[in-house]
Amino acid sequence: MQLGPHIAVLTGFAQRHLSGDAEGDKLINLKLEHSIQVLDTARHIIAGETITGRTADICLLAALYHDTGRFPQFARYQTFNDRESVNHARLGVLTLRSMTLPDGLSGEEWRIVRFAVAQHNAKTVRPTLPARLLHPVMVVRDADKLDIFRVLLDHFGENKKNPLVAMGLEDTSVQYSDEVYQAVLQGRTGDYRHMRFANDFKLLLAGWLHELHYPTTLAMAVEQRFPDRIFAMLPDDEPLRRLKDSVMSSIRYKF
Ligand SMILES: [Fe+2]
Repeated sequence: MQLGPHIAVLTGFAQRHLSGDAEGDKLINLKLEHSIQVLDTARHIIAGETITGRTADICLLAALYHDTGRFPQFARYQTFNDRESVNHARLGVLTLRSMTLPDGLSGEEWRIVRFAVAQHNAKTVRPTLPARLLHPVMVVRDADKLDIFRVLLDHFGENKKNPLVAMGLEDTSVQYSDEVYQAVLQGRTGDYRHMRFANDFKLLLAGWLHELHYPTTLAMAVEQRFPDRIFAMLPDDEPLRRLKDSVMSSIRYKF
């Protein structure tokens, strides 16, 4: 399948949301770049997991279009925080339904793409989904997480921080929330609602390491040293050393 026309459609759509405000436009461009990177990561995952045929095409399109809702979300609300605006996955589904998209997919295949878009930011996903639905959903979720690791680790490593990237969380060097810490320690999904500090966001990322679905994705995360880099940015205290040991040994166990 030709992805070029799809990339052109999404690029044109994103560019229509540029406002002329330099800071805002930088964030729109960041989301477009994220979408292309997620597509690229999805390509690696489907190759590593030998996902082929139409399912592979659907996975790639779902990856490319997964954040379509981010552009109208930012134009309307000037935030990427879903709690302060709308669920951007749901907005993405509505937006995709109204867009003119390149030919080549059946109505049923587009429905699966939109299903994967709708599920990409859900806290959990039903593991019993049939493979034709499970792969698009999981490829997008894994590829998205991997690229969020990249964006946020770069962001937290920068001196000049844009508060919107880390959703305006308080950036103190030592504080983190016990709820988020306990969730990650117990291998549960951290909850965005409990996040107060920038460190909570880093803890949430550490928790995602448990949740990567495909061995290929975890291998890519380890290759890019994401686990080490996440913990290097968190405070060096006893509870966090314990968490690091537990996350690292669960990663080793999966290989
Ligand atoms: Fe998203």
